[in-house]
Amino acid sequence: MRTQIAAANWKMNLTYRQGEELLDEILDADIPLEAHQRVVFAVPFPYLIMVNSELADENNYFAAAQNCSDKRSGAYTGEVSAEMLQSINIRYAVIGHSERREYFSETNQALAQKAALCLEAGITPIFCCGEPLNIREAGTQNNYVKTQLEESLFGFSEGRISGIVIAYEPIWAIGTGKTATTEQAQEMHAFIRSVLEGKYGADVAEAIPILYGGSVKAGNAKELFRCPDVDGGLVGGASLIGADFIKIIHSLK
Ligand code: PGA
Repeated sequence: MRTQIAAANWKMNLTYRQGEELLDEILDADIPLEAHQRVVFAVPFPYLIMVNSELADENNYFAAAQNCSDKRSGAYTGEVSAEMLQSINIRYAVIGHSERREYFSETNQALAQKAALCLEAGITPIFCCGEPLNIREAGTQNNYVKTQLEESLFGFSEGRISGIVIAYEPIWAIGTGKTATTEQAQEMHAFIRSVLEGKYGADVAEAIPILYGGSVKAGNAKELFRCPDVDGGLVGGASLIGADFIKIIHSLK
């Protein structure tokens, strides 16, 4: 079975104390994970060390950064490098979230750089892709997402690409309460896998987890995750409510 992942994306929410309490609530639920299942918490930079230490005794639970720099090191005030994340034992980083693309002008080319630096540092990039509403309405979402994948990821060798996780997040579904239907999610996930297969072959494409993101809730997670090409979710709003995220973890295949 492919790796299945429930990833929380806290975004710029929760104080340190609130973050600790939420994490405690979720860990207290003592959810047994199978070997192929992972839970990931993408939290603000100042909380990473705390989250990592809370998770130290947990199997298959990981902290993730929400971003990293496209530069290796040097005079880039305010940036955090992949190497810095590696130095505090961070194993995952969300790369190219649509909010970063939109509000911080991140390009496919810069994201290729970020993903490369993460992989070099032994950090799994959770690479986000997905189309805005006007593209979906025009029916050109497949080409749009294919270009995102090609421009950011297709410079990698077969060995390198196997170290990534993809998150398909249609922008029109993020924080809107408007979830993609299971048909829309499955269709795009299968398409993404076929694009990966075209470049890297079936074995590589079959092994890469593809998460769905965009208004995943306690009530719809099971249905979405049941789709054959949906390998879990990247969850914003519902990951801030302990009881809801616990249900979402339970919904993993
Ligand atoms: P949402 O956010 O679950 O609140 O829609 C998902 C995301 O942006 O990763």
